[in-house]
Amino acid sequence: MESSQLKEIIQGIPKAELHLHIEGSFEPELMFEMAKRNNITLDYDSIESLKKAYKFNNLQEFLDIYYTGAQVLIHEQDFFDLTWEYLTKVHSQNVVHVEIFFDPQTHTDRGIGFDVVINGIRKALEKAKQELGISFKLIMSYLRHLSEEKAFKTLEQSIPFKDWIDGVGLDSSEMGNPPSKFVNVFKASAEQGYKLVAHAGEEGPADYIWEALDLLKVVRIDHGNRCLDDEALVQRLLDENMALTLCPLSNVELKVIQKMEEHPVAKMLKKGILATIHSDDPAYFGGYMNENYYETAKALNLNKDQLKQLAINGFEASWLSSEEKVKHISRVDAYFDSLH
Ligand code: HPA
Ligand code: ZN
Repeated sequence: MESSQLKEIIQGIPKAELHLHIEGSFEPELMFEMAKRNNITLDYDSIESLKKAYKFNNLQEFLDIYYTGAQVLIHEQDFFDLTWEYLTKVHSQNVVHVEIFFDPQTHTDRGIGFDVVINGIRKALEKAKQELGISFKLIMSYLRHLSEEKAFKTLEQSIPFKDWIDGVGLDSSEMGNPPSKFVNVFKASAEQGYKLVAHAGEEGPADYIWEALDLLKVVRIDHGNRCLDDEALVQRLLDENMALTLCPLSNVELKVIQKMEEHPVAKMLKKGILATIHSDDPAYFGGYMNENYYETAKALNLNKDQLKQLAINGFEASWLSSEEKVKHISRVDAYFDSLH
């Protein structure tokens, strides 16, 4: 397929984004603008020099820069602007449903109120629902390099806002911070009615995916690349129709894989795994949803049926109601029918 034709097809697909860290959508231009209005001096003297620093050998090198960038976010308006910019961007890419992560501890540890963070994000999500027709869910992520006790504190802070929070996740430095470290706080989170997800098997081993399933009792695995190392685990994912939220550009940029041609998503689809594609931290990894679909499709030679499956899987793996899923999936079907 011609690259222009492939891009046009991808643009037209109605899509769901299920793995997106809102702090990772912080574009350098907005970061500089916000730093100026908040009187914060960045370590970089220009947008270009900041962008030059976006070269990572592993997850930790990225996280160090990502947490530094987030320090510019101070006021409710900042969280609103960050979220609104992301939502208008993905609206232009025909993303119609989002389930986004935020990292409360990145902000509360700097003395920013939990309410400041969530009010700004929530207002942008509401506005996007009204004005752009984007539906949404919100997921609060615990930082796994911090203690379980600190995650408990975050859970406690979230309770007044629990009607606005659909689930909890687990992100940050994976190696040495296995899911088992957070068993108690995940149990307590479930008791509050939160759905559970966790990053597992991005840099960490297949064992971490087992732990996320067996100990944390998650309903979705974020990344999960390493599952193909373990046949019994693949069978388990199939038996439970467990979704994996894959992030191909992220995987290349963080050297989880050496090049896109090695991405496991095509193998996963072939096995029947509920694999989905998302952008993770688009401002840092060189692309939003369409670019992730495009680069993956190009490198792996995905055909229209595989693209359609990925789009359907995105809605299938979402937390929309069954009626809403049926509605979106029938639109994906109709779109691909219209291409013939
Ligand atoms: N992995 C772990 N933690 C993260 C990521 C990621 O890809 N992005 C933001 N926090
Ligand atoms: Zn992630």
